[in-house]
Amino acid sequence: MDQIPLVDLGAQYHSLRDEMDAAIQGILDSTRFIGGPEIAGFEAEFAAYCEAAHCVGVSSGTSALTLALRACGIGPGDEVITCSNTFVATAEAIALVGATPVLVDATPTTGGMDARQTALAITGRTRALLPVHLYGHPADLDPLLDLCERYGLYLVEDAAQAHGARYRGRRVGSLGRVACFSFYPGKNLGAYGDAGAIVTNDPEIGEAVRMAADHGRTPGSKYEHSRVGGNDRMDALQAAVLRVKLRHLDGWNRRRREHAAHYDALLTGSAAAPLQPAGWAEPVYHLYIVQVPPQSRAGIQKCLGDAGIATGIHYPIPVHLQPAFADLGYRPGSLPVSEGLAESVLSLPMYAELRPDQVDAVSARLLSCLKDEGF
Ligand SMILES: Cc1ncc(COP(=O)(O)O)c(C=O)c1O
Repeated sequence: MDQIPLVDLGAQYHSLRDEMDAAIQGILDSTRFIGGPEIAGFEAEFAAYCEAAHCVGVSSGTSALTLALRACGIGPGDEVITCSNTFVATAEAIALVGATPVLVDATPTTGGMDARQTALAITGRTRALLPVHLYGHPADLDPLLDLCERYGLYLVEDAAQAHGARYRGRRVGSLGRVACFSFYPGKNLGAYGDAGAIVTNDPEIGEAVRMAADHGRTPGSKYEHSRVGGNDRMDALQAAVLRVKLRHLDGWNRRRREHAAHYDALLTGSAAAPLQPAGWAEPVYHLYIVQVPPQSRAGIQKCLGDAGIATGIHYPIPVHLQPAFADLGYRPGSLPVSEGLAESVLSLPMYAELRPDQVDAVSARLLSCLKDEGF
């Protein structure tokens, strides 16, 4: 039986093996493992890709988020508003800089941060809004940017799942004060290990992140350190890998959108309802999400798994109900849309190399699994 994984990094590597092997060999030959031309090249190319002025490569998406928040001067006593329907790292970064995450609910159609609830959550201690372009679908930024303008807040984008997505025609990553990307291997643009980046049009934020990620080193100096920083650098091997993949990203994202349209055509109107992209969004489908009846989700997953079809749940526990954030005082029922999504979402196989006949096979099996469950 044809196994259909959730993501297929092997198929991607095989499609660019010669380019990739040459890039990796180049790093081995040069022995420039830290810093150097691959890092500078990737930073310039990724900034241009995001239609932004500056990019700083760092060691992960989580370090991108913490460094960005610190560069905005956010720390103890401050509040940062983000959405509960996200990967835990978004809220974790806020806590890691000593600030308090304030969690708001999602919009039911896209699962993104709800702007009206965000407005209600602003207090005198709020310093930043941290929307997430979750699943590769941009958050509705205009109302959030208006709130930032009105209350003097920073807008920090968590673009970890949305490389290349557009909001009203503009690339995510260039829209807030600073944006944070993850290049975790399974992302639309993924490294061969951990890596991340911040992207910004603000040179001061770029410089602050660059110094903080490199031991607070004074620019141009080897052993003078003007601030206490740390080691959160991207390594050159990852930059070389990412430069190869960046050349393919738009083509891969196009294929993801084609697969999503194909799934939509087969599943819309069934009991496995696809999330609805907003009219202003050009999503990049990091994940393809349907909502299934919660009581049947485990059975549907097993039925698909029995046919060799892998699925995922992104995410089964919303951040406000994570044990790690129990101190924040949220309870079941606090953020009902996020809780409803956590119980009903199901991620179907999605990657550029997926074949149309595999989308047909996943959809047909899903519909038959639903039928077995009485839908
Ligand atoms: C929305 C979101 N934010 C942050 C992160 C953290 O990125 P990383 O795993 O590279 O630290 C991830 C990725 O896993 C993510 O999906």
